[in-house]
Amino acid sequence: MSSPPEDEKGSLRRRYTAADLGVLTRGELSRFAPGGDCDPRADVTLAWELLYRLEPELYDRLVTAERLHPGVLGWLPRDADRIVEVGAGAGRLTLELVGRAREVVAVEPAAPLRQILERKLAEAEHGDRARVIPGFFDDLPVASGCADLVVACSALTPAAGHGGQAGLAEMERACRPGGRVAIVWPNHLGWLAAHGYEYVCFAGPMAAEFASHAEAVELARIFYPRAVAEVRRRGQRRVPYDVLGINPPRDLAFKKVPA
Ligand SMILES: C[S@@+](CC[C@H](N)C(=O)[O-])C[C@H]1O[C@@H](n2cnc3c(N)ncnc32)[C@H](O)[C@@H]1O
Repeated sequence: MSSPPEDEKGSLRRRYTAADLGVLTRGELSRFAPGGDCDPRADVTLAWELLYRLEPELYDRLVTAERLHPGVLGWLPRDADRIVEVGAGAGRLTLELVGRAREVVAVEPAAPLRQILERKLAEAEHGDRARVIPGFFDDLPVASGCADLVVACSALTPAAGHGGQAGLAEMERACRPGGRVAIVWPNHLGWLAAHGYEYVCFAGPMAAEFASHAEAVELARIFYPRAVAEVRRRGQRRVPYDVLGINPPRDLAFKKVPA
């Protein structure tokens, strides 16, 4: 086997092995490693799932730096009855939602991320309005038509294990007639457009805001290995997204569920 390129050593792609798959529950395995013999070094989405469970605080350090564009937050309802968020993670969006609804239901499969989210909610204003529950896109543990907004941020993809067609249908089932389903920071615009989703993108420069320059370099080594040299050279804790090589979290796709 050839050795990995220099910029990939220490990266998320090299961080875990198949021996780590034991951390996944049966329901998680069936969605994230359906073939049984999956390798997180060959499947980076599987490596992310292992990160959420094995090093959730490391993941939380990353998302703390990657804040959503104010335009996305401004688009969200301010006075909803109930909001359901799916794939809530460590709460990047959830913490923004709790002041906007009588109840927020945060669905998250990874138990260690649920623990971080619960800890943050306990410290947050209006955090008592949120319920954090386990669940998956394709089998949402909520009643039909229960929410004014059903939303996912950087979580839903067309792949069946990460939502897919069934996940989109479940989100729409959970939404009340006249309510909205929103996919924040979407990755597959054509797929969403084909399912009747409109696209909104907010302008302006955006940068990831790491706690320090040292933190920016350390996290880039793991998550953005190709950007490490430039992150180090710039000597700043703020790193524009084009340096990291990803789209900024400045957009969303949404659909109004027919009344
Ligand atoms: C990149 S993280 C985003 C977390 C959070 N929404 C945020 O923006 O910080 C993706 C999230 O989707 C969750 N996830 C992955 N597959 C899922 C599935 N099939 N059903 C529900 N959530 C899922 C993961 O556990 C993780 O919390």
